[in-house]
Amino acid sequence: MKKVAIPIQFTEFENISELSDQDRLLVEIARKMTQNAYAPYSEFSVGAAVLLDNGEIVTGSNQENAAYPSGLCAERVATFSASANHPQATMKTIAISANNKTQTMDYPVTPCGACRQVMLEYETRQSEPIKVILSGNSGKIYILEQVKDLLPLTFTVDDLKRL
Ligand code: THU
Repeated sequence: MKKVAIPIQFTEFENISELSDQDRLLVEIARKMTQNAYAPYSEFSVGAAVLLDNGEIVTGSNQENAAYPSGLCAERVATFSASANHPQATMKTIAISANNKTQTMDYPVTPCGACRQVMLEYETRQSEPIKVILSGNSGKIYILEQVKDLLPLTFTVDDLKRL
């Protein structure tokens, strides 16, 4: 018997001014996209922006529904839209941001488990890492170099093939 540790790495930035021009633009778009959230139930607005290798930026925001499970997170709205509209493109980076109606979110939002699984699917399919940029509407920003770092011991299509 032995204990196994799976280390993950991310880079912490004090604020948006420390980012590269390209990353900063993507964060600004994700922050703007929070304004398009339809979140009357949670009042928690999330925005996402996906940069593709063809230079296109595909965006999303969370969309809620009176039948709660029918809603969808911003990350999945954006990545499904990117895949549906640009099936040949590679996703280079996804920026995710959030804000709350009642308070300023000055720390990074971290994606839910289902969104991690969905983003991982596209990363696995394209065999190239998708950089993940997490932020609130101000304050610290985390950058992970790949989705896999958000989901250790992942279940992927490779596990299906092994059966
Ligand atoms: N939400 C997202 O859009 N992305 C996340 O990573 C976490 C949660 C949404 C779902 C729901 O509309 C609201 O935020 C509160 O959970």
